[in-house]
Amino acid sequence: MNKNKNLKVSVIMGSQSDYKTMKLTIKVLKIMGIKFETKIISAHRTPQRMYDYAISALRNNIGVIIAGAGGSAHLPGMISALTSLPVLGVPIESKKLKGIDSLLSIAQMPKGIPVGTLAIGEDGAINAGLLAASIIANHDHKVKKKLNKWRLSQTKSVKKKPK
Ligand code: RP5
Repeated sequence: MNKNKNLKVSVIMGSQSDYKTMKLTIKVLKIMGIKFETKIISAHRTPQRMYDYAISALRNNIGVIIAGAGGSAHLPGMISALTSLPVLGVPIESKKLKGIDSLLSIAQMPKGIPVGTLAIGEDGAINAGLLAASIIANHDHKVKKKLNKWRLSQTKSVKKKPK
């Protein structure tokens, strides 16, 4: 178990093309003041890189892994199979099936190896950052304060009447 409280969030993605979605996760992590790293890791194009990354994730001071992947999106599940760290999967909106393929690939993990699956695309990327912040906030009071502040300001931004 990693006893270090100053854990980082690792944001990985299957391709450079996923970055336009996953940069929204990074934006949230920055607002929350959470340390993070970013990497391109493809389960099928760079399998050795995926394996080396996953088995060393715990000793590399990572608290949560967020994995964005599209199409036959096996990256989050494969990472979760290799580490007991929490893995959140962001289904990238694919060109041919609008991300339904990505969503089902990530969400339908058979029992035993879980992946916390977010919504397709930008909403999922933002919520992955917020969910990672909630997990980190369990051990980090500063992050908890920032998360609560963010949620309060969201609540205040909702007008009582439509214009
Ligand atoms: C997946 O294939 C990636 O996560 C990406 O969403 C999708 C397409 O990749 P590129 O062909 O754009 O590199 O592995």
